[in-house]
Amino acid sequence: MTPGATLAVPSGAARPRLTFLGTGYLGATYAVCFAELGYEVLGYDVDAPKIAKLTGGEVPFHEPGLDEMLRKNLAAGRLKFTTSIEEAAAFGDIHFICVGTPQRADSMAADLSHVEDVVVRLAPHLHRKALIAGKSTVPVGTAEWVEQLVRRHAPAGSHVEVAWSPEFLQEGHAVEDVLRPNRVIFGVRSEWANDMLFAAHKGVFDLATTEDREVPVVITNFATAELVKVAANAFLATKISFINAMAEICEPAGADVTQLARAIGYDARIGNRFLRAGVGFGGGCLPKDIRAFQARAQELGVGEALRFLHEVDLINQRRRQWVVQLAAELLGRPFGPAGPDLSGVKVAVLGATFKPNSDDVRDSPALSVVRKLSRSGAEVSVYDPEGMENARREVPDATYARSVVEAVTGADLVCVLTEWEEFRTADPVVLADLVAGKVVIDGRNCLDPVLWRRAGWEYRGMGR
Ligand code: UDX
Repeated sequence: MTPGATLAVPSGAARPRLTFLGTGYLGATYAVCFAELGYEVLGYDVDAPKIAKLTGGEVPFHEPGLDEMLRKNLAAGRLKFTTSIEEAAAFGDIHFICVGTPQRADSMAADLSHVEDVVVRLAPHLHRKALIAGKSTVPVGTAEWVEQLVRRHAPAGSHVEVAWSPEFLQEGHAVEDVLRPNRVIFGVRSEWANDMLFAAHKGVFDLATTEDREVPVVITNFATAELVKVAANAFLATKISFINAMAEICEPAGADVTQLARAIGYDARIGNRFLRAGVGFGGGCLPKDIRAFQARAQELGVGEALRFLHEVDLINQRRRQWVVQLAAELLGRPFGPAGPDLSGVKVAVLGATFKPNSDDVRDSPALSVVRKLSRSGAEVSVYDPEGMENARREVPDATYARSVVEAVTGADLVCVLTEWEEFRTADPVVLADLVAGKVVIDGRNCLDPVLWRRAGWEYRGMGR
């Protein structure tokens, strides 16, 4: 757009009106944050109870700072939620696709049925020019396919354009990541789509200007935009598995992976972030994204290029198994081909979520270890500050304690598997009086081994 020119917004509003289709973690956070930036926003979902909660001012998941921001923007009248796709279609100038793309049950590939569903529902109601902008993490080629779906289903036909603008929000930091992104990506085919995305992000750029920051923008084609997201997640997963592979070596070699990570991280080319060895990565993104990426590369005939990601996945899975193996070793239990025999052993597991400051237990390493310990015959008592409800739904047969104290009382072994502040700062002297055996596995290398050993504990970290 020529500088100074004003963009003709299809609805006639001064700023584009935004819809976020799918109000899960991604869509709900974006809807609230963009309302906070001053946009008129409508969140849409097929899940009526979820929409009712959001309309009532309640965020259906745990994300620091989001609740107050939701209530503030509902009250200001800038933010609404609906289960009516007609209403969303009539309202929006830009429709952001924020639905989930989970792993398919029958393969490693991404399940695109929610993307298809929402586009096919929306398109027939689009009677004026609009932009559909994908945010969901998708296999490369999806934007083009969405474009074909729109051509087939939208009466406004080619007046409805498509763009892809992946997001990079991290749970627990989601509000910051949306308001103050470290970059934005616009995958576009036309100048109009580009101008619309700029207009939709003006609030983000203005905030940056007032804070004397810059937000880099990468303008590119569909395929690159789609790939940016999966490439970034593949890189992060690889970094974590790299340091976990080093942990595997440190263990028999008598080295300390936390010091190793610190030492290599001082090299700015390597950097110290995402180098924390432990029970590995989980969550709703990294594990399924590296699998979907491999599946897509296979389809493109370049599967070999990503064969290393299979190894990244295997290293990650081995960390979970290693905790169980270590438990058997520390408790002097035999380890057979079917795994260890931990019958009669009481284990306290501190942590259920895939990382702290979240209530998300999707593909959580902590819960995977809980399952493995239970399968080995151990009696497992789990405590997590925020993830209890979700954990109970996921692993109903474990025992759930109401506090750290309740979980560890009478335990033969304590495993810290999510690095919640409450666990990091727990007093090992106090806990020592409650347990049956002073043995601790620090699955996140988040405890101070000196303090714990001084309090009489046998301490084992990951790779140290
Ligand atoms: C990730 C990406 O960071 C984000 O950019 C993308 O948009 C979505 O996926 P998220 O799933 O919220 O975000 O979690 P993240 O903070 O990346 O952590 C992923 C997992 O890796 C967690 O289980 C965490 O405990 C683990 N992790 C992270 C490590 O084991 N070691 C590390 O050094 C860092």
